[in-house]
Amino acid sequence: MKVGPRPDPGPAIRAGIALGAVAIGVLVAILVLGDAAYMWVKAVHVMAIIAWMAGMLYLPRLFVYHADAAPGSELSETLKVMEHRLLRIIIGPAMGLAWILGLWLAWRGGLLTSGWFHAKLAFVIVLSGFHGFLSTSARRFAEDANTLPSRRWRLLNEIPAVLMIFIVFLVIVKPF
Ligand code: HEM
Repeated sequence: MKVGPRPDPGPAIRAGIALGAVAIGVLVAILVLGDAAYMWVKAVHVMAIIAWMAGMLYLPRLFVYHADAAPGSELSETLKVMEHRLLRIIIGPAMGLAWILGLWLAWRGGLLTSGWFHAKLAFVIVLSGFHGFLSTSARRFAEDANTLPSRRWRLLNEIPAVLMIFIVFLVIVKPF
């Protein structure tokens, strides 16, 4: 079994520090601003979603190229590093932040019993499950053990986009 490139822990530590700083900032905003904090927290929630979705749309695209790259080639090794960093530094922290802030918004806004929120939550859980699948797939690529062809990755690439469309309609239109 081939061993993938050793990840550089530096960027992951910096991402952790940045996430901690945002969490402290949000906590201070909640304590200092009281009710007005809701809109500020919502703004940070949307920023986290943008980062999460950017990664979720880009990672399967990298897998499309990776599936066609010869194992052990320079391209394959470069893609392994890109995939690992994208997951560790962008997608993982952004998803964590989106969940924490989203649940706080739902609780603070009294939305936990709304129908549209339940539907949104269902789609977000599926999106998070897809995130888990991408994470496992990145590990398989790192071990040169991917079995899915690039054509299949091209199709899977559409899943986060479709889920995002439903989620955004639900949270903006609130149809029920
Ligand atoms: C991770 C779990 C998530 C939870 C628990 C959550 C929950 C929430 C809540 C409670 C609000 C406030 C709604 C309001 O004030 O009317 C909100 C706002 C929003 N969420 Fe999420 N959300 C999550 C993930 C997502 C995802 C994945 C997307 C998009 C792909 C998204 C997009 C948005 C948008 C665009 C807003 C602003 C809506 C507005 O101001 O009208 N959220 N979210």
